[in-house]
Amino acid sequence: MKKVELKLAFTELGLDELDHEDKMLYDKAMEAAKIAYAPYSGFSVGAACLLDNGEIFTASNQENAAYPSGLCAERSLLFYVGANRPDQTILKLTVVIKSKLRDAKKIYSPCGACRQVMAEYQNRQSSPIQIMFEAGENKVLVCSRIDDLLPFIFNF
Ligand code: THU
Repeated sequence: MKKVELKLAFTELGLDELDHEDKMLYDKAMEAAKIAYAPYSGFSVGAACLLDNGEIFTASNQENAAYPSGLCAERSLLFYVGANRPDQTILKLTVVIKSKLRDAKKIYSPCGACRQVMAEYQNRQSSPIQIMFEAGENKVLVCSRIDDLLPFIFNF
């Protein structure tokens, strides 16, 4: 028998501690959240990512009356980037919430399905994607790679 323990790493930062680039991504994700299509949950999510060539893309959650047909902000964004910039490396991805339902004290980390998709894009480009998400009032958590959010990606 072999017992293994994993260590996960993240950094907690105040919004006022973010460098210019991360603050810009946060703001752009927030702009995207404002135009989310979330009439069913009332929970608007925005995502922004920075590519190696300097381009920034954003997206938001897109819901549907047939609930499971909707898609999270992160996957809307990653699938768009995967389809349109397949040769670019994704450096950073930021996820934010804009909703009356948002509990100011809560951490809002990406859902499991989005983590799985992030992990595959990270594997595909063979370099880490930094992920930043809401961690309470004016605070964020930053993981320097998806492995810190999803250690056992499904792969074959
Ligand atoms: N949602 C996201 O966009 N990202 C996540 O990581 C979790 C949840 C969306 C899906 C749905 O439109 C709404 O938030 C409520 O679950």
